[in-house]
Amino acid sequence: MRIDIVTIFPEFFDVLDISLLGKARQSGIIDLGVHNLRDATTDRHRTVDDTPYGGGAGMVMKPEPWGETLDGILASDSEPTDAPGGTSEDGPLVIFPSPAGDVFTQAMARELSAEKHLVFGCGRYEGIDQRVFDHTATRARVRLVSLGDYVLNGGEVAVMAMIEAIGRLIPGVVGNPHSLVEESHEDGLLEAPSYTKPASWRGLEVPPILLSGNHGAIAAWRREQQLERTRRVRPDLLQP
Ligand code: ADE
Repeated sequence: MRIDIVTIFPEFFDVLDISLLGKARQSGIIDLGVHNLRDATTDRHRTVDDTPYGGGAGMVMKPEPWGETLDGILASDSEPTDAPGGTSEDGPLVIFPSPAGDVFTQAMARELSAEKHLVFGCGRYEGIDQRVFDHTATRARVRLVSLGDYVLNGGEVAVMAMIEAIGRLIPGVVGNPHSLVEESHEDGLLEAPSYTKPASWRGLEVPPILLSGNHGAIAAWRREQQLERTRRVRPDLLQP
């Protein structure tokens, strides 16, 4: 998968060199490009924001550096964009993290892990000039995606979270694919608690069923734990 990130803080993404995603990059499963929005400015101060038309607090990101940067990224995509409106299901998907977007879920992460080319545009300040979204939508698929019902200072942290959740679902990134199946949210429930050795620690015992060797009984116990935990912590997940 090709991933491009547009940001005014490229160093935020240095951590994508390490851990499982770093390995996935080394092995070529993930091909990452991080683009500094300020490289597309033309003034001495490398200005990316300006005051909002109509007044109001804060600053808005100017459209020109976004247009320039996205021109370069989208032009480099080799997929033909001959569908109506210039967009193609196989072409790039441009995601702008925003508290005004669809809420990011495990199901969305799975859907996005099948894309060939994701482009993330990290906004800052009070947001990005609306015309950037409108113009990008004439040549690529565009989605606004929110990490949750709270406000971050910018899109970078949201993009890091999304890339980690999406990246680990790409085949070959996580060594043992079975470990993905037993996680929270994969089957719509929270995961069961886990234990390792020693069997007794500081007076706390591992539930005896896990030491029984009875795999059917262990599976049933884990399922019951999942249901109990989900009912208690996230009853909303059990709504039809
Ligand atoms: N940018 C600011 N807040 C955000 C959020 N909750 N999700 C995604 N991007 C954001």
